[in-house]
Amino acid sequence: MKILLVGDGAREHIIAEKLAADADLYAVMSRKNPAIARLCKKYWIANTTDAAAVAKAVDVVADLVFASPDAVLAAGVTDALVEKGMAAASPLKAAARIEWDKGFMRSLMVRHRIAGLPRHRVVQEDNEAIATIREYGMVAVKPLGLTGGKGVKVSGDHFKNMEEKFAYAQELIAKDGSVLIEEKLIGEEFTLQAFCDGNVLAFMPPVQDHKRAFVGDLGPNTGGMGSYSTGRLLPFMNDVDLEKAQAIMQHVINAMKKEGAPFTGVLYGQFMITADGPKVIEFNSRFGDPEAMNVLALLRTPLPEVFRSMAEGKLLKPEFANQCTVVKYLVPEGYPGKSRADAEVKVDEAALAETGASAYYASVYEKEGNVYTTGSRTFGILGMGGTLAEAEGIAEKGCKCVSGPVWHRHDIGTPELVQKRVEHMKELRK
Ligand code: GLY
Repeated sequence: MKILLVGDGAREHIIAEKLAADADLYAVMSRKNPAIARLCKKYWIANTTDAAAVAKAVDVVADLVFASPDAVLAAGVTDALVEKGMAAASPLKAAARIEWDKGFMRSLMVRHRIAGLPRHRVVQEDNEAIATIREYGMVAVKPLGLTGGKGVKVSGDHFKNMEEKFAYAQELIAKDGSVLIEEKLIGEEFTLQAFCDGNVLAFMPPVQDHKRAFVGDLGPNTGGMGSYSTGRLLPFMNDVDLEKAQAIMQHVINAMKKEGAPFTGVLYGQFMITADGPKVIEFNSRFGDPEAMNVLALLRTPLPEVFRSMAEGKLLKPEFANQCTVVKYLVPEGYPGKSRADAEVKVDEAALAETGASAYYASVYEKEGNVYTTGSRTFGILGMGGTLAEAEGIAEKGCKCVSGPVWHRHDIGTPELVQKRVEHMKELRK
């Protein structure tokens, strides 16, 4: 099978690794990711958020296409490649709207009475924004469109006072014409990803991501500093939480079909388990980054077969190993603020192999055989093991095999941090 992948980060590196193991891989990248390039029969460099440029660059007709990053899906790249005669396991632009238009996502939930909906309002006027913020008190202020995970600001975490909330809402109205204001959800977050063929979902193990930059969940939001998974459930979840989240995602898929935009692809649900059960923070139309590394490392069914079954509308049930995983992102000095770009980084592959960890190349570029930072996340380092402590230890050892001006959050996946989540949930459920 010939498979065409569009995208060039660490998430796409593990997708590429899984595809190349059982199929002929082709890729379109906006910047040459040397690790993905090595796995390909052929690759093209093009602006991946320009659907026409991608379609023009590709001179093979693949059996199947999988376009991955959010902005690529929002640009209609899947649509353009389907028009060239390829089958697709990633969503069309109309289906990816569940991610690129948060107003649509909330109104879909309202129209179809989907559970897990927090109090929210999409507003266009400054006065209405101020009134809504006063009414809700503790809020999340969200841009409607894509922001690479960095646009949402929340009371207590990012705002020091009411004035800052008003100012941010007004800033977004001035920039985008509207803003989404929601009640702040209190609880523990988790990610649930599922393969989907338009009708049926096959769920992957749940994962917990860490958005904040610094140890102890402090500092600004990032694209995700690392994540862990522990098999069928996370330590702070119960069966009912999982079943409710799964039912919500199935309801979304049914609703998308009814609205004439059936969803074929990977549906990503981000949930907050609150004292009242799981609530929806948002949906994405793709694998999470870093969460893709947690789940795909465990996948035992060949990924090309899973993708083919999605594209054909006959989803097969993939199998996952029952192990724990920890991903730690190495990021450049200064990230996520004044991040150091164009610094050389090196992976000691022999030492890495001894640790049992894997390194996935993220936002890097290659020049004359050397690898350099761009200013965004650099490498995702994955550890797997029978216990979380084992997986975490392997990921830490893996991080030490990378040289250059990069750093990571040491606390992700540690028993101490995970125990805090468990205690937090126990307290809320009382
Ligand atoms: N890890 C968050 C995301 O992929 O959106």
